[in-house]
Amino acid sequence: MNWRIKPLDLILATAEKKGLKRQLGAFQLTMLGIGAVIGTGIFVLTSVAANKAGPGMMWSFIIAGAVCLLTALIYAEIASMVPVSGSAYTYSYAVLGEVIAWMVGWALILEYAVAAGAVAVGWAGYVNGFLASIGHGLPAFLTAGPADTITLADGTKAAGGFNLVAFLVSAFVTWILVVGTSHSARFTSVLVAVKIIALTVFVVIALPAVDSANFEPMLPNGWGTPLSGVGVLGAAASIFFAYVGFDAVSTAAEETRDPNRNIPIGLIASLVVCTIFYLFVAYAAVGAVGAQPGGALSESKEPLAFVLRQLGWPQVGNWVAAAAIIALPSVVLMMMFGQTRILFTMSRDGLMPDALSKVHPRFHTPHVVTIVTGIAVALFAAIFPVGMLADISNSGTLFAFFVVSLGVMILRVRSPERKRVFRTPLIWVVGPLAMAGCALLFVSLGGYTIKLFLVWAVIGLVLYALYGRNRSHLRDSK
Ligand code: ALA
Repeated sequence: MNWRIKPLDLILATAEKKGLKRQLGAFQLTMLGIGAVIGTGIFVLTSVAANKAGPGMMWSFIIAGAVCLLTALIYAEIASMVPVSGSAYTYSYAVLGEVIAWMVGWALILEYAVAAGAVAVGWAGYVNGFLASIGHGLPAFLTAGPADTITLADGTKAAGGFNLVAFLVSAFVTWILVVGTSHSARFTSVLVAVKIIALTVFVVIALPAVDSANFEPMLPNGWGTPLSGVGVLGAAASIFFAYVGFDAVSTAAEETRDPNRNIPIGLIASLVVCTIFYLFVAYAAVGAVGAQPGGALSESKEPLAFVLRQLGWPQVGNWVAAAAIIALPSVVLMMMFGQTRILFTMSRDGLMPDALSKVHPRFHTPHVVTIVTGIAVALFAAIFPVGMLADISNSGTLFAFFVVSLGVMILRVRSPERKRVFRTPLIWVVGPLAMAGCALLFVSLGGYTIKLFLVWAVIGLVLYALYGRNRSHLRDSK
């Protein structure tokens, strides 16, 4: 085992040398955060949550949101101390050493690449719904992957074949990233506005239709037990996906003006805004049409549009679907962008093959890592259902959040003198609570997902032992 750490000052010096242009302020960062957060989680997984928890999914939204808010307070401290790209991977390298950093980086592949696949599948649900509504629906076996189910014309269920739309959007986003786009702040703001307007319209229409009878029974599957993957906690572990992405703010650290001040603002403000919207949306959706497991909402692949159609607003339902169709590809893009930058950083540190940090001579983008990532994402998206991908992604994210929370506490003890522009309030309460929350959600994910995570972790450790350990650029240091 190798516990060598990459000193904070060395990390900061490397970043300083590369000197990206610092142009993002607090507002743009908040927009970036909201842009990465609002996506498939709220637009699609609302139905998955209903299936697991029934109306009690409102509690799931609250629990998952609380865990994320605690973690955001912690990320804000470390991101303001180490304002460089690489996110949780870089922080772990500085505090907990190379093996843990590698494991975090390895888990972040789940967080970002698998999440990109999940968002692509969620997007495909809305696009296929739209195509069917104008009479040009794809054959059913092309609307879902072989690990997903489709409903045949006679009402029976069967396995899907290949999720064509999800595959194509992943390939398209890969192409955009290869030919080069720095995420334009103005474009991000427009898409954020589209999503916010769609959610606001949804709440304005659905809220007055709330009927208290729709909340009964409130907890058809109870609170849930560890490894069961159902009940309020099981749904919280899945809907956690809806909040993921706020940490993308920290991946833009090297392009931020006054990062020590603006990154904490961007992290926390984006998450607070999203949480408020989510709670309203969840309450309105449950109250307006009911959310019992196995019911119509829980079966829908475009639940928000479904609710509006049920309430007699089919045209507005179509607009909300259109908003999802317009805005979700940018979430795929954010997730894939984050993935490429993390792999890029790991490759620059010697832990991944050099080829991954090659830069295209004409487009000036890390094309190799982007294409490798894109192929993986497109295949995930073509094969698996959205709920499964989201859960797998959550397992990696929860692991990373857990480690970062631990790391920030260790750093308080080890380097108390280091300047902290943002100090997590009550760190000895917030830190352990965040870790406990991540652990609780992790064990609530369901046995299958946890098993997959463990297999992934073992593969990661073996690869580290065979490759990264000997190739690390820090191998000559202690
Ligand atoms: N939070 C992002 C979404 O829900 C990943 O799509």
